[in-house]
Amino acid sequence: MTEVLVVAGPAAAGEYVADILARAIQTDPETVLGLATGSTPLPIYAALAERVRTEGIDVSSVSGFALDEYVGIDPAHEQSYHHVIDAEVTQTLGLNPERVHVPSGNPDTLESAGAAYEEAIRAAGGVGWQILGIGANGHIGFNEPGSPIDSLTRQVPLTEQTRQDNARFFDSIDDVPRHAITQGVGTILRAGHLFLLAFGEHKADAVARAINGPVSPEIPASAIQQHPNVTVLLDAAAASGLDAAEYTVVTGTPAGV
Ligand code: PGA
Repeated sequence: MTEVLVVAGPAAAGEYVADILARAIQTDPETVLGLATGSTPLPIYAALAERVRTEGIDVSSVSGFALDEYVGIDPAHEQSYHHVIDAEVTQTLGLNPERVHVPSGNPDTLESAGAAYEEAIRAAGGVGWQILGIGANGHIGFNEPGSPIDSLTRQVPLTEQTRQDNARFFDSIDDVPRHAITQGVGTILRAGHLFLLAFGEHKADAVARAINGPVSPEIPASAIQQHPNVTVLLDAAAASGLDAAEYTVVTGTPAGV
């Protein structure tokens, strides 16, 4: 079932998801988190870090699997997702770095990297809680339009739109990698619970098509309709392409969720 919630904004969405994740980790110290990069999930990491600190939650056995990485980028590069996940998640939450995984974008080992990543997820018991953003073109992870619904971790080309969206993080558009390695749509669908977050009017069309459109590789995020446990958290602008009857406005904390 897809539950669609409209909250006041990114901070409220972060609190909402962090509350659920904090309780999940307290119940199962070996919780496996699916980690997204981008600006959208940052409020979750900030709110969860605060909970970890104030409530003394033990995260030493928590694992994390990032969705994706650029191909051919030095893992030490500021914009590599190895670096971003380390700075924004591993260090912020105080996770054990050995338990936090990012697919390898090393061009020399790409052929086996996808299968190796799938196997690492499987060996950890699968992702329990997957955090997702959505691209303005409907991508999830770096699964661009055209990505098969049953795709697994693999190398993919990046669209010009995604390269332009991400150019702000690089010196110039020419520095933005042209390929990435990403968990597939099928990989994402194997997670126990999906949280998809979107904020801002520029996401409204992609959100509406993900929730109401046909399930199609053209809108990879539409695959969430095939998952039994999905929570979509939006601000009012990102929900502007939906009918009010399709979502619940949430003003408080997720007590009872
Ligand atoms: P954003 O990216 O969080 O930076 O908006 C989301 C995405 O492209 O998946």
